[in-house]
Amino acid sequence: MTRPITHAITNARFVMKLDRLPRVVADGPLAADVLELLDGKVEILPWPAADERLTSVDAIYTFGHPRVDGAMMDRLAPLAVISNYGVGVDHIDVPAAVARGIPVGNTPGILDGATADLGFSLLLAAARRVVEGDRYARSAEFTRYDPAYMLGREVHGATLGIVGMGRIGAQVARRAHGFDMQVLYHNRNRRVEDEAAFGVRYAEFDVLLAESDYVMLTVPLTDATRGMIGRDALARMKPTATLINIARGPIVDMMALYEALSTGQIASAALDVTEPEPLPRDHPLLGLGNITILPHLGSATVQTRRKMAELSVENLLLGLSGESLRHEVRG
Ligand code: 8YV
Repeated sequence: MTRPITHAITNARFVMKLDRLPRVVADGPLAADVLELLDGKVEILPWPAADERLTSVDAIYTFGHPRVDGAMMDRLAPLAVISNYGVGVDHIDVPAAVARGIPVGNTPGILDGATADLGFSLLLAAARRVVEGDRYARSAEFTRYDPAYMLGREVHGATLGIVGMGRIGAQVARRAHGFDMQVLYHNRNRRVEDEAAFGVRYAEFDVLLAESDYVMLTVPLTDATRGMIGRDALARMKPTATLINIARGPIVDMMALYEALSTGQIASAALDVTEPEPLPRDHPLLGLGNITILPHLGSATVQTRRKMAELSVENLLLGLSGESLRHEVRG
């Protein structure tokens, strides 16, 4: 599916004849399938130090979430493309790239199912205390079955509030119907035309927080969503509610969440993402029993990660060949 590139980079915004393989700066270590797809097509260079100025770099490939700002683009200029392994590009200054004529590629549409599956895993795990139960079942304390212990909360018949009704939010809504849940959503732009198809009801943010038994975050990280779940938002949630974050860590104020969980203001939380990532090993959230934390596994399935590798490498090679990317982020 990837096509061999000539060594002439002839992007309209970037014209250069190369007598060498294109050079790509990447944050490693890269996954084996990314390396396999890039093999023989590009030369991979290590991520540059903060002030390092490199000439003859042609592209940036972001595998984790390293920060790419305008200053870095200028230190590596001229660049034909920035390609991101993943859909969220909050670590890349997209307006700065657009201003410099550098296309930014990402991988939308192929990780929604896997990410929604993980969101539901977290919801179910928190509701039915799956991780806590596993720890207990393995521990020395488990000596006698007791029907009175570890009661959870029901999922079927409960109300799920989805914050963000993009592709992943829509996939979460589909799964919720299979569990006989009522689904509220809040989105920057109300999606009236999709409400019947998705079986979702629009709610103002405060109403969603107040009425939901489970609140799941699927919004991108932007200036508008950073810190949107802070003290005020947590205070509006039910004391029996669970917060699930499969979006980005900084959308939730970590200390406000700690206070809400440790004082019983909300019942539990399940996070695939944190701020920072990972949390410092002595972070108070790690000491709580009513939180489940995963190390950012939203799209981490063999099948989805393969598709992400293929699409991100295709975007990279298309950009280096001067062609339109399969998916270009619009600033
Ligand atoms: C990826 C993600 O794991 O696509 C995203 O935005 O956060 C994840 O699916 C990540 O981008 C790879 O580092």
